[in-house]
Amino acid sequence: MQFETRTAESTILLGERLAQLLKPGAVVALYGELGSGKTTLIKGVARGLGVREPVRSPSFVIITEYAGRVPVYHIDLYRLNNAEEASAVGLESYLSSDGVCLIEWAERAESLLPAATIRIRLEVIAGGRRIEIEGLAPELMQELKQFG
Ligand SMILES: Nc1ncnc2c1ncn2[C@@H]1O[C@H](COP(=O)(O)OP(=O)(O)O)[C@@H](O)[C@H]1O
Ligand SMILES: [Mg+2]
Repeated sequence: MQFETRTAESTILLGERLAQLLKPGAVVALYGELGSGKTTLIKGVARGLGVREPVRSPSFVIITEYAGRVPVYHIDLYRLNNAEEASAVGLESYLSSDGVCLIEWAERAESLLPAATIRIRLEVIAGGRRIEIEGLAPELMQELKQFG
């Protein structure tokens, strides 16, 4: 399912709405070039999951844990090269936890992602961002569509 947002705020809003549909243990993989809005969308998802502190992208931190209604793991694989390196930082234990994992540059660890991974591709387009979501159950996808 495809969405287009014109502003960072509306991307955050989409993230907040998506958060309402996520179950504990959900894995959300985000793909898209630098500046495409991955962190912006994650800010919204974290907010929607009840995280109160601001979500940032610190340069040297790969995994940041936030407390929401479930634990929220913001994972940025930008500095890693492959699945072995992701494994070495313990990625699998986060993926199999009851928290929600939000993963930027998920392609760096594609082979470790569970079958039920929700994939989000972000693209810069004229006037905003195209955001394609796949892997949500059809009835949830329908709910998200109704919001938007
Ligand atoms: N429609 C939009 N959705 C998301 N971000 C947008 C949008 N329009 C402008 N922006 C801006 O683009 C930048 C996206 O940065 P960021 O979310 O950090 O991207 P990434 O994590 O993919 O590198 C932010 O500065 C944000 O304010
Ligand atoms: Mg980012």
